[in-house]
Amino acid sequence: MAPAMLIAATGFCSIFLFRCVTAQQTNVTDPREVSALRALGTSIGLSPPWDFSVDPCSGAAGWGEDTGTNQFRRRSAIQCDCSIGSDGVCHVTRIAIVSMNVRGQIPPEIGNFPYMNDLNFQANLITGVIPDEIGLLSNMEHLTVASNRLSGPIPGTMGNLTRLLTLSLAVNNFSGTLPQEIGNLSSLTELYLDSTGLGGELPPALRNLRRLQTLNIFDNNFNGSIPDFLANMSSLQVLAMYGNKFTGPLPASLANLTNLRELELGEVSAGGSIPPSYNRLTSLTKLSLRNCQLSGFIPDLGNLTQLTHLDLSFNNLSGTIPAYLASIDSLSRL
Ligand SMILES: *[C@@H]1O[C@H](CO)[C@@H](O)[C@H](O)[C@H]1NC(C)=O
Ligand SMILES: *[C@@H]1O[C@H](CO)[C@@H](O)[C@H](O)[C@H]1NC(C)=O
Ligand SMILES: *[C@@H]1O[C@H](CO)[C@@H](O)[C@H](O)[C@H]1NC(C)=O
Ligand SMILES: *[C@@H]1O[C@H](CO)[C@@H](O)[C@H](O)[C@H]1NC(C)=O
Ligand SMILES: *[C@@H]1O[C@H](CO)[C@@H](O)[C@H](O)[C@H]1NC(C)=O
Ligand SMILES: *[C@@H]1O[C@H](CO)[C@@H](O)[C@H](O)[C@H]1NC(C)=O
Ligand SMILES: *[C@@H]1O[C@H](CO)[C@@H](O)[C@H](O)[C@H]1NC(C)=O
Ligand SMILES: *[C@@H]1O[C@H](CO)[C@@H](O)[C@H](O)[C@H]1NC(C)=O
Ligand SMILES: *[C@@H]1O[C@H](CO)[C@@H](O)[C@H](O)[C@H]1NC(C)=O
Repeated sequence: MAPAMLIAATGFCSIFLFRCVTAQQTNVTDPREVSALRALGTSIGLSPPWDFSVDPCSGAAGWGEDTGTNQFRRRSAIQCDCSIGSDGVCHVTRIAIVSMNVRGQIPPEIGNFPYMNDLNFQANLITGVIPDEIGLLSNMEHLTVASNRLSGPIPGTMGNLTRLLTLSLAVNNFSGTLPQEIGNLSSLTELYLDSTGLGGELPPALRNLRRLQTLNIFDNNFNGSIPDFLANMSSLQVLAMYGNKFTGPLPASLANLTNLRELELGEVSAGGSIPPSYNRLTSLTKLSLRNCQLSGFIPDLGNLTQLTHLDLSFNNLSGTIPAYLASIDSLSRL
């Protein structure tokens, strides 16, 4: 009897211990990332502040993401992954501080989130620079700081974020040029750089972005000739580059971008004539060559059967829009 009871007792003990161990493995946020969250919340001036009396990755006390369908909806939230090390340590993978009217700065501690995947600071009043430490977030896939008051240069360390799929720096007050390191972001599919304050020539390294589908660089101070290398970015579907200081002529090579759905040039000086090769851009729904100092005859654009928006205004073109284009009901802004 005694040995049997001992075995039974041991059994109970194991079960009890197992419960003890699992209870101790309650998921807890990495303390280094909790410190970084404190630094971020304070520096950026989040109001109401995050509640550090509960663990951030618990999702309680307003920490958890309240996913809305409207990406501009006001929110501050984080998401975590507690299964990375199977040690009960949770890591922050997403931070959204959107439309919160925060006016502070992004602190260098932003680099202390090694598993960060998605950072969204859209539509605030954030000032100061993007810290070089942003380059430490090498797992990032989505980064937007659009619609803020950020200034200073775009840090070259961003070239380290080679997994980025979408990057938006749009509508800020940066200075300087687009760093050539942007060409290291070879996974990028969407790049929004409109109204950033950037200028100078586009870096040739841009041509390496072979997966890029959307390139928005309108309303900046970019200058020099419209680079031929744009024709190498063969995945491009949207190319919007009006409102800069580019000089012509419009490159005939852009006709190689046969995936283009929207091509918006504009405010180009000495645009020359419209290259007849543009008739090969048969996926185009929108073509704007407004105010490009274009002259000469409008070439045959009869193959652009998907066009719904054609803007050739403020040029010195002669000839006529072919009847088959003019007859498209939805065609506007000739
Ligand atoms: C800890 O996180 C893992 C992975 O996300 C999850 O499966 C588990 O339920 C969590 N445990 C607790 C106690 O919350
Ligand atoms: C690039 O990321 C790696 C980690 O993947 C890091 O060790 C390195 O310091 C980062 N470089 C820069 C310039 O941020
Ligand atoms: C960008 O890529 C080049 C060539 O692969 C490399 O030498 C450079 O260190 C990279 N820069 C960054 C910031 O990752
Ligand atoms: C933009 O930044 C410059 C400094 O680079 C500064 O002089 C200017 O006041 C800023 N403009 C706005 C609207 O913040
Ligand atoms: C382009 O802009 C840069 C920076 O503003 C300037 O230094 C350069 O002279 C400009 N180049 C041309 C061709 O206008
Ligand atoms: C565009 O394509 C033509 C042939 O279709 C080729 O000869 C030319 O080199 C290409 N240009 C660019 C810049 O890719
Ligand atoms: C860009 O396209 C041209 C013409 O097709 C080609 O000769 C050149 O090698 C391409 N450049 C790169 C970097 O692939
Ligand atoms: C326009 O389409 C016609 C008929 O498909 C074709 O023969 C012609 O080569 C096309 N023109 C251009 C410039 O692609
Ligand atoms: C417009 O082009 C015609 C020739 O097609 C030329 O005579 C005229 O001077 C040009 N006007 C301007 C404002 O450039």
